Amino acid sequence: MSLTLGVNIDHVATLRQARYARTPDAHNVEPDLVAAAAICERAGAKSITVHLRADRRHLQDHDLSRLRASVRSKLNLELGNTPEILAIALRTKPEDVCLVPENREEITTEGGLDVHGRRTELAPTISALKAVGARVSLFIDPDEAQVRAAAELGAPVIELHTGAFANATGEAAAAELRRLRAAAELAATLGLQVNAGHGLSYQNLPDFLEQVPHLRELNVGHSIVSRAVFVGLERAVTEMLKLMEPYRG
Ligand code: PXP
Repeated sequence: MSLTLGVNIDHVATLRQARYARTPDAHNVEPDLVAAAAICERAGAKSITVHLRADRRHLQDHDLSRLRASVRSKLNLELGNTPEILAIALRTKPEDVCLVPENREEITTEGGLDVHGRRTELAPTISALKAVGARVSLFIDPDEAQVRAAAELGAPVIELHTGAFANATGEAAAAELRRLRAAAELAATLGLQVNAGHGLSYQNLPDFLEQVPHLRELNVGHSIVSRAVFVGLERAVTEMLKLMEPYRG
């Protein structure tokens, strides 16, 4: 089974919001998220990932409806477990959802979901999402208790949070890779699909892929959108896919 790429296009919306947040209906609003998603798909992305945050700092509700109508691969919606966002997810019916923790003050999703400590709140959300046909993934730190709790809750997929690895260097990065490897091995033993994301980049991907087995999907956003500023989105996606090609799991 080959490793596939989901491109997180939130930061295409970040760029748009930087100029047009107050005039969303203006004739000159850009860049267009639907066009960005189509370019990613043309370049080989197998899903389009977006995070509708409570504060709507990047993706807006109308983006989600337009993407739902236009995405031809899979729509992967990241969501915090709140009644408002869950209701939108249930209406939108994305193919995939990824439950993430969300704090208002954070710049990006800072840690994994505490599945172990929040089973009671997560269980009905997972059931509701499954009932509309969404494949549920839980975004967790590479931690044994979290992996086991995800399996116990009946989520078919986990996404391992790679942020601590991405932010570390030297021996600390090597230690994070060992944690990620152990979590991936445990998850595979428990029958979970293993995805990964956060902070993955053109620089750190080769080490990550060399050390971590059983991966099926990566979700990459910031690094691809940053690279796209220099080489264009299609080439940025193609270059990321090229780095993923040798992966044998
Ligand atoms: N996966 C999840 C669950 C995320 O929350 C994010 C950030 O929204 C990403 C992947 C992408 O992270 P990055 O933008 O650092 O590549």
